[in-house]
Amino acid sequence: MRILVLNGPNLNLLGTREPTTYGTKTLSDLEDQLRERFQQVDFRFIQSNHEGDLVDRLHEARGYDGIVFNAAAYTHTSIALRDAIAAIEAPTIEVHLSNVHARESFRHHSMLAPVCRGVISGLGMKGYLLAVEALIHPST
Ligand code: DQA
Repeated sequence: MRILVLNGPNLNLLGTREPTTYGTKTLSDLEDQLRERFQQVDFRFIQSNHEGDLVDRLHEARGYDGIVFNAAAYTHTSIALRDAIAAIEAPTIEVHLSNVHARESFRHHSMLAPVCRGVISGLGMKGYLLAVEALIHPST
């Protein structure tokens, strides 16, 4: 089973970026947790600060079994990312560390959610684990 875990802009700074909102764990802590918990999964981990690069990465993963995608700020703005998710076969789950609905109103709208299998928001890194679990066992 192949899963892409794709993280968007500023998430390379996890651990030091606004820790009261995003916690103190780093992206590599997250990768370690996922690898340890789901040893049967062939993970690809990518982080990019660039919208077009994220589009390319989604295209590359079109045949994957699933994508866990935190598009960060692009969630709220990007028609290009929405179209890319809609264009590929791989089921995509939108994840946010923070509860975007409890924050500024500009974070309440997701351009991506309508073309995603589901959305997880506000559960910190646990959201990524739950998303992978949902991709592995979609109906339980
Ligand atoms: C985020 C929420 C977004 O609104 C924000 O722009 C981010 C991170 C989250 O994981 O909570 O960069 O996607």
